[in-house]
Amino acid sequence: MSYRFALTLFALIFSFGQPESRAQSTVPARALKDSAKFPIGVALNVGNAPGDMADIREIAALINAQFNSIVAENGMKMRFLHPAIDTYDFAAADALADYARTHGMILHGHALIWHHDYQLPVWMKNYQGDWQAMLRDHVQQICQHFAGKVKSWDVVNEAIDNKHPKQYRATLFLEKLGPAYIEQAFIAAHEADPAAVLYYNDFNMESKADKLQFMLDMVDDFQRRHIPLHGIGFQMHVSVDSPAIAQIKTALQAVAARGLKVRISELDVSLNQQQRAASLDPALAQLQKARYREIVSAYVQSVSPAQRGGITFWGLLDKDSWLLDGKPYPDWPLLFDDKGQTKPAYFGVLEGLKE
Ligand code: G3I
Repeated sequence: MSYRFALTLFALIFSFGQPESRAQSTVPARALKDSAKFPIGVALNVGNAPGDMADIREIAALINAQFNSIVAENGMKMRFLHPAIDTYDFAAADALADYARTHGMILHGHALIWHHDYQLPVWMKNYQGDWQAMLRDHVQQICQHFAGKVKSWDVVNEAIDNKHPKQYRATLFLEKLGPAYIEQAFIAAHEADPAAVLYYNDFNMESKADKLQFMLDMVDDFQRRHIPLHGIGFQMHVSVDSPAIAQIKTALQAVAARGLKVRISELDVSLNQQQRAASLDPALAQLQKARYREIVSAYVQSVSPAQRGGITFWGLLDKDSWLLDGKPYPDWPLLFDDKGQTKPAYFGVLEGLKE
């Protein structure tokens, strides 16, 4: 019997009698943020343009009820905050910071340095001057502006080559400065805002042993040289049955063993990468619930309370997920359906938080 079939069988047997599997509940048993002893966050696709905070009006009640941490899915990426070499635009992100402060939430900053073309400022792609001074200024201007408003930063995102995970990714920053750009970014951020908690953020470190080891070697080197890297963000964009929970635990424990903070920074559980499902049936929903539960439980068991930077879900409603962008098939990766109703996955997180 295949693992997936066994899981499905288990889910079918287990799902009967579970109140949420029969009717989606819109009145959660207990809010996520009140059930965790660490930040529980959500990525919001706002902050991209001044005034777009109004876009979250219809979901604000749900955000405020469930979460105590937020992050801009895109709006605090490089080209939004630094659109021209001598221009910083903080208006939209300041509105998000005000929202967080007003509602007693943490604002996590994502991301000071990332290679992805969508958010690389055009001027930076063509920059011909002193790259070290320019990137230092980029990081420091932003960190100084948000000091006291942003509690933690993804200082560098996805610097390790995912296809060849025993080397750094060949980015514009690596080309211009070599691997030193990474430590330079952390040093600059720490000088600009000594109170900010500084993370290295990446994906597949929980599924690729070589990528995990390469990151750990970087961390060990930074710790030897007292580079101010305070934590690791595991994006954790996973599927319902991969990677194995044992591998996830190994990865989380390896970072925790180094005394660093650990964030699950972009959690979602895709259900339809094989494009087999046309709709979210109860058995699949129960599989997703079990998956969310085991990941959250693994985090609680693997990371000490003092080291828990928190768990952030990469979107609120299923329809908001980046996983649907441009895809010809549906998916249901998050905790709330398109109407904002709790899915079984939500209860899986609650159960994982109690373990
Ligand atoms: O805003 C434009 C819109 O005007 C245009 O009509 C539309 C179609 O071209 O594109 C819209 O911009 C899109 C943007 O998301 C806002 O929705 C971009 O094309 C699209 O590339 C961008 O994707 C984001 C992606 O990062 C690239 O920055 C996703 O929303 C976001 O979820 C994703 O998040 C990343 C993390 O930052 C890092 N970890 C991986 C994660 C998933 O890729």
